[in-house]
Amino acid sequence: MIEKLENIENEAMEKLSQVEELEELEKLRVHYLGRKGEITSVLRSMSQQPQEMRPVLGQKANELKEKIEEKLKEKEKEIEEKSKELLWEKERIDVTLPGKPVSLGRKHPVTLITEEIKEIFAGLGFRSEEGPEIELDYYNFEALNIPVDHPARDMQDSFYFTPEILLRTHTSPVQVRVMEKQAPQLPVRIIALGKVYRRDDDATHSPMFQQVEGLAVDRNITFADLKGVLLHFAREMFGEEQQIRLRPSFFPFTEPSAEVDIFCVICGGEGCRVCSHTGWLEILGAGMVHPRVLEISGYNPRVVTGFAFGMGVERVAMLKFGINDIRLLYSNDLRMIKQF
Ligand code: DAH
Repeated sequence: MIEKLENIENEAMEKLSQVEELEELEKLRVHYLGRKGEITSVLRSMSQQPQEMRPVLGQKANELKEKIEEKLKEKEKEIEEKSKELLWEKERIDVTLPGKPVSLGRKHPVTLITEEIKEIFAGLGFRSEEGPEIELDYYNFEALNIPVDHPARDMQDSFYFTPEILLRTHTSPVQVRVMEKQAPQLPVRIIALGKVYRRDDDATHSPMFQQVEGLAVDRNITFADLKGVLLHFAREMFGEEQQIRLRPSFFPFTEPSAEVDIFCVICGGEGCRVCSHTGWLEILGAGMVHPRVLEISGYNPRVVTGFAFGMGVERVAMLKFGINDIRLLYSNDLRMIKQF
């Protein structure tokens, strides 16, 4: 019997020292100490032992029981500690690790130019106005004296929703909307920046692009005022030395009308490939507001006059930053945006 107890002890100690999970530990507890366990069965078989051996065996068996119980407790603690450590290892945060770099956003070149344009004209007393991108045929064409057979009115050139509603093809309708609201109050001095849409798509034309419209209406406004404002703008935007040149042109909503050039920003007027060796680059259309447009918008053309101009914002950005394809501006390529 003593020998059997010793065998149990050896085996139990060996097995217990190898256990790594609480579940296994529980199984061993049942195996040795449970109601049908090994030690219990030894104690049960005591009655078959000689009388004088019983106390010794009993003591031995109890000692072994205690020993196993102690070992079980020790093991249980050990396993619990270990699993806590593992958890800690998994969840711990190493505050000394380098952070993930956050890249800073940049303003789009068109946004930069938009802000600059607003600032230049604000300095001349022009407030910023807005109009809808989905526009009525009336404001986009009719009120601007654009005849029914004008090419811009063709489905081929403009995006229509219905015969009366389209995506505006220019910012000029904002002229009419503003005057209508303000008439007969003077002076009118506004710019309107925003998106416009045409059925175009190549290196210099995008189906969506942005324009800035300018409008000034008051008593005694002359063509000289228009020239002065545009020259000031050209110098603020492209440098002190800039010059402008006006060429006669035609727009249904202005009379007289002009197209306006600046010194080529690439060669400074010397002549190069960009300006087709003329030294000049066209940047906008302008003119004196047509009396019919004034009248339809609520002003008396015998009392007031006005000038207006319209300019492509991307074109200004491309000239200012030396970008040769308008599609680059809308390619969503951060490598491009980050250069400005
Ligand atoms: N709306 C014209 C266009 O999109 C540009 C323009 C020309 C606007 C002359 C004007 C102007 O206000 O006076 O082509």
